[in-house]
Amino acid sequence: MVQLVNVAWVDEVAPGEMRAVDVNEQRLILANVEGTFYAIAADCPHRQAPLIQGWLWGHAIECPWHHYRYDLRTGENLYPRNVYPTDLTYLEKDLNPLHCYPVQVEGDAVLVEISGGL
Ligand code: FES
Repeated sequence: MVQLVNVAWVDEVAPGEMRAVDVNEQRLILANVEGTFYAIAADCPHRQAPLIQGWLWGHAIECPWHHYRYDLRTGENLYPRNVYPTDLTYLEKDLNPLHCYPVQVEGDAVLVEISGGL
């Protein structure tokens, strides 16, 4: 079942900023990059650091603990994937993607699509 949840209003998260929002008792992060909204899991896939304490670098979010970076659009690990040797496949387990949620804007409402619970 897909659920659209109004998590914020457009003017509540300025471009270049992010905020934590709670949906069904779960925390997500809503980020605004140049007027486009992205919703991601609140905890880093590496060691569960709170990403709200991290930094936005364009379309990337940087974790405050070990500085891993993830693409807000896809969840892909950007760093350290870009510096890990490709022949050391056991390192892959450290590069889990960040979960991303589809976002829609309807009027002033920012809606996050939640499927099958969180
Ligand atoms: S907990 Fe986020 S990089 Fe390690």
